[in-house]
Amino acid sequence: MPAGRASAHGTLGRFGAAKRYARGWRELEQGELSFASLIGVTILDATHLFAAALGAEPERLHFAAHSHHLWPNATKDAQERAWRDAAELADEKWDRIFGEVYPASQAHIARILGLPNPGRVAFSANTHDLLVRLMSALPAWEGKRPIKVLSTDAEFHSFSRQLRRFRESGRVEWEAVAAEPFETFPERFRAAAEAGSYDLVFASHVFFSSGYVFDEVFEILASLPDSATCVVDGYHGFCALETDMGPYADRLYYMSGGYKYAMSGEGVCFLVAPPGRELRPEITGWFAGFDSLTEAQTELVGYDRGAARFMGATFEPTPMYRFNAVCDALTAEKITVASIHAHCEALQDRFLDHVGAGSAGDLHLDQLTPGRDTSADRRRRGHFLTFRREDAQEQQKHYAEARIITDARGDRLRFGFGLYHTAQDVDRLAERLSGLPDR
Ligand SMILES: Cc1ncc(COP(=O)(O)O)c(C=O)c1O
Repeated sequence: MPAGRASAHGTLGRFGAAKRYARGWRELEQGELSFASLIGVTILDATHLFAAALGAEPERLHFAAHSHHLWPNATKDAQERAWRDAAELADEKWDRIFGEVYPASQAHIARILGLPNPGRVAFSANTHDLLVRLMSALPAWEGKRPIKVLSTDAEFHSFSRQLRRFRESGRVEWEAVAAEPFETFPERFRAAAEAGSYDLVFASHVFFSSGYVFDEVFEILASLPDSATCVVDGYHGFCALETDMGPYADRLYYMSGGYKYAMSGEGVCFLVAPPGRELRPEITGWFAGFDSLTEAQTELVGYDRGAARFMGATFEPTPMYRFNAVCDALTAEKITVASIHAHCEALQDRFLDHVGAGSAGDLHLDQLTPGRDTSADRRRRGHFLTFRREDAQEQQKHYAEARIITDARGDRLRFGFGLYHTAQDVDRLAERLSGLPDR
C-alpha cells in the first residue's frame, strides 16, 4: 500500500481487526483501550521508504526511533549527490550549497514550523554549539554578575552539563523547576518564570527523560518580559508533533536538529531566532559575518542580518542534503508531521494494550511515565514510551542481545516508535519480549 493512505486494518488484516473489536468494547468504555488501538489502525505503511535500513537486519526490532531514527532510502542518494557536487564542482560547490542546499533546508524548516521567514534559521553541527553561542550573546555574559537562568530539571545533557559547569565557575545562577509531578508542572513552571527576573529561560517542548509534552511552553515563554531571552529545545518535538511557531516567532528562540524525527542523521541542527533582538554572540565564527567579509575588518565585529549571526564556521554540508531529501520524499508521499504522529500514537496504543494485557514480557503499565491517558482529546506524550525501572540499563542490554533495540537513560527504559514501524512490528516486539529468557 502506498504510504499516506489510510488503512483500517493495519497489517493484521480484517480478521485480526474483527477479533479486537469483539473483545474491546468493554475495555474502551472503561478507558483501558484507545479507539485507535481497538480497531487495529496503522495509518501508514511507509516501510518501502526505509527498505535499505530495514533490510540490513530484518530480525532486528529497532524501537529507538526517538534516538537514532532509521534513515530513509532517500538519504543515500542525497549523500551521493553531496559527494558528486564536491568532486565535480570543487570549491565552487559552495555556490550550490549557499545558493540552493542551505536555503532549501531553511525553507523546509520554515514550512514545518510555520515561520514567516526562512532567514530566521541558522545551522550548526549540534545544538550545544548553538546554545553556547546564544548564551555568549546575553548582556550578562560579560561577567559583572552571574547570568540568571531558569529551566526545567528535565533538560538534555547538552544543556544541563554545560549549565552545571557554568555554575561551578560562577557564570550562572540556575534554578530548575521539577518536571514531576507532571499534573502540576505547567503551572509551577509558569509561576517560577513569572516570579523571577531571568536573563535566560530555557525549556524543552518534549522532555527527553519521559516524553512528556510541555504544550504550554510557547505561550508561557512568550508572555515573559522582553528582558528574558527565551529558548525552546524542540529536539523531541520537531517533525514529531505539529508545531506552529508562527504566533511566537517574533519572540522565542527554538532549537532542534535532524538526528531524531527528521530522519536525517547527525550534523544538521538549527536555531530559529526572532528578529530585532540584534544579539552579538561573543563566541562567533566567520560564517556569522559573511556579508562584511570582503570589507575591511573594523574594530567592532559586524554580524550578518537574521539568524546568520549565530553561525559558526566551515561546516559539513552533507547532512543538509540528507535533510532536504527526506523532506522532499515525505512531501512526494504526502506524509505530514500530523500523519506521522497519528501513526505513532496508534502504534504506542497497540503496544500499551500488550503491556496492559501482560503480553509484553515483564513490562507493566505502572512503570509507564507519564501514566497512560486514553482520552482522545488530551495527550501529553511524544514518540517514545518511558518505563521507569531500577534495572533499566541491564534490561536494555538484555533486550539488545535479543536484537530488540531500545535505549536507557538512568532508570528509564525508552521505546521509540516511528514511521518505519507497522502494527505487525509491534506485535513481534511484544512476542519477543514475552519469550525472553530471564536475565
Ligand atoms: C532534548 C534534546 N536536546 C538536544 C539533544 C541533542 O543535543 P546535541 O545536538 O547538543 O548533541 C538531544 C539528544 O538526544 C535531546 O534529547
